[in-house]
Amino acid sequence: MSAPQKKLRVAVLGATGAVGQQFIRLLDGHPWFDVTAVCASERSAGKTYAEAAKWVLGTDIPASVAGLTVQDASEIADVDLAFSGLDASVAQAIERAYAEAGIPVVSNTRNYRMQADVPLLIPEVNPDHTALVERQSFDPAGRGFIVTNPNCSTVGLVCALKPLHDAYGVEALHVVTMQALSGAGYPGVPSLDSLANVIPHIGGEEDKMAAEPLKILGTLGPDGVENATFTVSAQCNRVPVWDGHLLCVSVKLRGNPSADEARETLRNAPDPLADLGLPTSPERWLLVDDAPDAPQTRRHVHRGNGMTVSVGKVQPCPVLGVKFVALVHNTVRGAAGGAVLNAELLVAQGRIVARA
Ligand SMILES: NC(=O)c1ccc[n+]([C@@H]2O[C@H](COP(=O)([O-])OP(=O)(O)OC[C@H]3O[C@@H](n4cnc5c(N)ncnc54)[C@H](OP(=O)(O)O)[C@@H]3O)[C@@H](O)[C@H]2O)c1
Repeated sequence: MSAPQKKLRVAVLGATGAVGQQFIRLLDGHPWFDVTAVCASERSAGKTYAEAAKWVLGTDIPASVAGLTVQDASEIADVDLAFSGLDASVAQAIERAYAEAGIPVVSNTRNYRMQADVPLLIPEVNPDHTALVERQSFDPAGRGFIVTNPNCSTVGLVCALKPLHDAYGVEALHVVTMQALSGAGYPGVPSLDSLANVIPHIGGEEDKMAAEPLKILGTLGPDGVENATFTVSAQCNRVPVWDGHLLCVSVKLRGNPSADEARETLRNAPDPLADLGLPTSPERWLLVDDAPDAPQTRRHVHRGNGMTVSVGKVQPCPVLGVKFVALVHNTVRGAAGGAVLNAELLVAQGRIVARA
């Protein structure tokens, strides 16, 4: 049911950036997708990818992409699907142009996340929300649409909340984040600000963490998504780690289950993707780690090739009822990997197909 009949031609928009590079790495050898276009600003256009990208990952640039000529992202590439890791200042117009040209866009950027007819998708959490694309009007033929993935911290939070929300209902939560430097892109935070320092400010992040979970955990009805209604208080901090956002969460759950009950609920969370055979779906999308000092950013961020959200220290909270720590790989599960999984789900659902 899942696999496409032939490989789909893929463009990566913003291919030279921090998220774009993760796309290039994750799509190397992908069984369903072939990167045939790499697109960035006019500063990069005309150079080979190897010349244009300041490659910061610990692997070599895939040979199949290194020699591709970077295209100006504002010119529509002839592809079946576009992944977007564009700077938010330009993503609005470029992603729209792709969708209007009949090309599905699976985006990391914030621009369309809260638009009512755009899915804000985590495949294990709200796979049914993909039906929202049928309400979009970018392309009258219905082939071109936009699907987004959430802010990188929100992904970790919502993955951990999903089983608890289903079992009890979330009433309120407080979350403090410790977010990696790679979340700011490249070159990102200046070294004199980031080294041996914690910065209690990430522009717009606390608002996104308050708003996005309500849409993702909302219910799809005949008029679109009816948002969940719990209250979120978020405090976000930039810390000097490379990859991985760590979240300390206190949550008030309906019926006040014990921490032990909540832990078992998290441990037994079902995987709705288990039978779909999606290539990027990890063996465990949510892993409860019982070690007293887990999860740790550096040690555990690469679980499931960066697609597993780790949860630990599930304990009683004297203020809200239950507290825990969650860890998410911000540029993989929280960005490029999440988007690739979104696209795989859309393919499996028959919503993305090869163009003639
Ligand atoms: N980093 C994360 O953990 C993370 C997580 C989730 C979501 N996001 C979102 O993903 C997007 C990319 O983030 P990033 O961290 O990868 O940023 P980044 O490293 O700054 O990369 C930005 C990309 O956008 C391109 N770009 C900039 N101006 C452009 C223009 N005028 N026309 C066309 N392309 C242009 C850049 O190309 P040039 O190299 O040619 O300038 C580069 O490829 C952002 O919207 C961000 O909010 C990031």
